[in-house]
Amino acid sequence: MTAGPGPHGFEGIEGDVNVSPERGAWRERHLDAESRRWLDEDARYFLHQALSTPCLNVLARADGIYLEDLAGRRYMDFHGNSVHQVGFGNPAVLAAVKAQLDQLGFSPRRYTNVPAIELARTLARIAPGALGKSLFCPSGAAAVGMALRLARAATGRHKTLSMWDAFHGASLDTSSVGGERMFRGDIGPLLPGTEHVPPPDAARCALGCGGRCDLRCAGYLEYVLDKEGDVAAVVAEPVRSTPAIPHPDYWPRIRAACDRAGTLLIFDEIPQCLGRTGRMFVSERIGVVPDVLVLGKGLGGGILPMAAIVARPELDVMADRALGHYTHEKNPVTCAAALATIAHIEAEGLVEHARVLGDHALGLMQEMARRHRLIGDVRGLGLLMGIALVRDGGEPANAEAERVMYRALERGLSFKVSAGNVLTLTPPLVIGRAELERALAIVDECLSVVERA
Ligand SMILES: Cc1ncc(COP(=O)(O)O)c(C=O)c1O
Repeated sequence: MTAGPGPHGFEGIEGDVNVSPERGAWRERHLDAESRRWLDEDARYFLHQALSTPCLNVLARADGIYLEDLAGRRYMDFHGNSVHQVGFGNPAVLAAVKAQLDQLGFSPRRYTNVPAIELARTLARIAPGALGKSLFCPSGAAAVGMALRLARAATGRHKTLSMWDAFHGASLDTSSVGGERMFRGDIGPLLPGTEHVPPPDAARCALGCGGRCDLRCAGYLEYVLDKEGDVAAVVAEPVRSTPAIPHPDYWPRIRAACDRAGTLLIFDEIPQCLGRTGRMFVSERIGVVPDVLVLGKGLGGGILPMAAIVARPELDVMADRALGHYTHEKNPVTCAAALATIAHIEAEGLVEHARVLGDHALGLMQEMARRHRLIGDVRGLGLLMGIALVRDGGEPANAEAERVMYRALERGLSFKVSAGNVLTLTPPLVIGRAELERALAIVDECLSVVERA
């Protein structure tokens, strides 16, 4: 079966479309015989799926902000699947991982180990509010799943409220709270009681604010919480990756509504945690502390799979039941990577760096918006940045966004198109000012090329 844009819901999704004509044309123009041969082997031996296999290109190495392909071409990576806060091959993280491998490479679950304890203690130190009890696992989806189990146990309820268009992982439980047809459609029954509300995204508000947020979406969520009366948890990314930055009153209102309803607030900060938004956690940026914080991706230092939940101590209620029984729960190597990552972010002042550089980039993007008719709006929160492309009539310029992305790849800049029309720019936080300006100049030039075509 071949996946097509229509029935499986490519339209407006967060990831790359891997079967588009633009992708095919790029491959024809840019890949040498050896890379094509490896890609064909990849497609032969891996199960195909939308958003990955067949793949774009074959990588040989990565360092700092750069990916390098088999042919030796280098790309500034403004995508990185959000794992690369401290850059690829970060020497401090590599050294910590190598040392830990020599010391203790695995810890069976009946034992604990010093790196795991130190990481849990560090997360309790840096997490917002009183969040202070952790559990680790190897993937973001598994961590969201643990948060859902914890919410059920702590409240004695099972319903959840989450956002349409959201992604929280590709397992069946996280696809149920997620809001994308790509993951929910044609796959059979999902978890019962997983209800959805429109996301607080003024640019595409489904409740009719027309881009001038009047917090109807907050009112709607409050209404559903009140009507249902037995919702275990509201599950959401505090700021979507596009980025969709909610009205400043949105999350304080939802926090208060959750408190009234006895509902837990679970923030999925898997892609945006650890400094990207100019604060260590997005929760701090929006001034709201959740009951459970979910971390992942960059927590493994851009090298290892690592995720965690950090909860209020009062939610430590499952001593007699399994909450997350993962083989690599206290893996000393992934914990060492996470500790080195956090230490590097703190020692290098990367949180402040992301805030200052992000403000500078936002200014440059605003200036670009005045010159490019394709730019609808620009968004930035630290080094989480987005440029939304629209046509004259205001509809999303999806095809143009994809063209800009492939032109940028030709010039050595890799980024993701989210929601179909948003050039989403998430560089490593170790990026310098000159490199950031060079990347934005590439976007600028590619927009001109696409606008002239
Ligand atoms: C917001 C969000 N939540 C959860 C996940 C799932 O993380 P993982 O791929 O580690 O399971 C992702 C991954 O892209 C994500 O962006």
